[in-house]
Amino acid sequence: MFDDVAERYDVTNDVLSLGQDRRWRQLVHDALDLAPGQSVLDLAAGTGTSSEPFADAGVRVVPCDFSLGMLKVGRRRRGDLRFVAGDATRLPFASGSFDAVTISFGLRNVVDVPAALAEMLRVTRPGGRLVVCEFSHPTWRPFRTVYTEYLMRALPPLARLVSSNPDAYVYLAESIRAWPDQQALARLMHGAGWRDVEYRNLSGGIVALHRATKR
Ligand SMILES: C[S@@+](CC[C@H](N)C(=O)[O-])C[C@H]1O[C@@H](n2cnc3c(N)ncnc32)[C@H](O)[C@@H]1O
Repeated sequence: MFDDVAERYDVTNDVLSLGQDRRWRQLVHDALDLAPGQSVLDLAAGTGTSSEPFADAGVRVVPCDFSLGMLKVGRRRRGDLRFVAGDATRLPFASGSFDAVTISFGLRNVVDVPAALAEMLRVTRPGGRLVVCEFSHPTWRPFRTVYTEYLMRALPPLARLVSSNPDAYVYLAESIRAWPDQQALARLMHGAGWRDVEYRNLSGGIVALHRATKR
């Protein structure tokens, strides 16, 4: 599915999120607070858009994804990034190799979420951090209703105008609705062995940033 949406993935994101995705990505970078020269694995990095704020700040970012179509577009867009093909549930990295791991709009798409969270823990050094950026559930009920209507009614026709595979955006809407809420995701992270799990809501809870540490 991601191979099919790769060509127009970034422009579709900008349109469907009304430009908000750029701000969310910058906040992921700020939440990890890495110094230049430190290393971060950007898992499910797709075309590398989520890796860019790190690379631009001098952080050693490794974008990793299992969709060769997304990686191909990424390499064309940002030839300076060192893209790696890999599966989130069986990462091709040694234990403790990174100062931090991050995953933006990717964890929801991974088939075995606990396995991916455990792999992220394995490749992070002790004391290292994780930031998960993922769609979540708006906290104010009236807004949640309007947002759910947007997801189910407006998003698929909009996607038809801009995406190379509109059906993928029906999946997007459904997967967002089915995804655990903020507290349930925090429990999943804790269950995988991550500690000091906390989260903050962005855009009223449309997106949540979960942070955690490897003790
Ligand atoms: C919505 S894109 C997010 C891309 C990027 N992080 C961003 O913020 O734009 C989700 C990505 O997750 C990747 N993905 C899903 N399951 C994966 C897995 N098991 N291992 C690696 N990548 C995976 C897909 O290939 C896709 O590129």
